[in-house]
Amino acid sequence: MGKLTGKTAVITGGNDGIGRATAQLFTEEGANVVIFGRRQNKIDEVVAELGENALGVQGDVRNLADLENLFLKASERFGKIDIVIPNAGVARLLPIEQTTEDIFNESLDVNLKGGFFTVQKSLPYLNETAAIVFVSSIAHALGLPTHTIYTTAKAGIRVMTRTLGSELLPRGIRVNCVSPGCTNTNMLWTTEGFSEKILHDMIERDIPIKRIGEPRDIANAILFLVSDDASFICGEDIIVDGGQINCMTT
Ligand SMILES: NC(=O)c1ccc[n+]([C@@H]2O[C@H](COP(=O)([O-])OP(=O)(O)OC[C@H]3O[C@@H](n4cnc5c(N)ncnc54)[C@H](OP(=O)(O)O)[C@@H]3O)[C@@H](O)[C@H]2O)c1
Repeated sequence: MGKLTGKTAVITGGNDGIGRATAQLFTEEGANVVIFGRRQNKIDEVVAELGENALGVQGDVRNLADLENLFLKASERFGKIDIVIPNAGVARLLPIEQTTEDIFNESLDVNLKGGFFTVQKSLPYLNETAAIVFVSSIAHALGLPTHTIYTTAKAGIRVMTRTLGSELLPRGIRVNCVSPGCTNTNMLWTTEGFSEKILHDMIERDIPIKRIGEPRDIANAILFLVSDDASFICGEDIIVDGGQINCMTT
């Protein structure tokens, strides 16, 4: 029997990267999985990969009607929901002078507002003892040039984990988050100004384990937090970064 047998999970951004790896791991552990994202072709690809216990719903986390539709469709297919992973995110890393109002709004709307309303719209459908795991970033704890808008949103997610944790715990709902370090997904490779050279230098200088994360590394931490193994943990942030934040070696 898997760690999530009989449970149903909803994962925003489940059609790529960390969300996709989480959907795969949850399916291996016996869960029904509902993935959500904008690109229908990637949703179809991942649902085909996951098999009959998966459902794809297309939409945008910035659109509250899309989020309502997500949870309605998920509950019509699988009943009550046990796990919510607000994971969808975008990284626009630009110097302050080049950050337009549209870029500012997009980053906050997807990374912060999207996470908040994903949780709000899930509430009518949640089982008692449901678990929510946000995906923040170690960037919330670092002063990094060009990261202001992204880290502001991710710091907000870290804080929201505590405040929503305290608000929802009386109903039996645990809220936690994971904060990945640099992870091998499209987000990394499509970030403005990123290159193999920057990655190589970062690994040598900043990451004691001497590699970047794979999506499965992050999925493993998410699985722990949603599972019964973490039934005494709420409001916590698990950093998954190869020791970058906590273990300087030079
Ligand atoms: N990769 C890293 O180094 C890293 C480090 C720390 C934290 N994170 C966080 O990890 C999470 C997952 O990122 P990733 O690395 O897996 O990136 P990714 O491979 O680019 O995946 C991002 C996912 O979010 C979805 N998404 C983006 N905007 C959306 C929107 N408006 N509405 C609905 N879905 C949307 C994308 O699907 P569609 O494009 O189809 O909508 C995609 O499935 C993000 O919150 C990110 O900030 C990543």
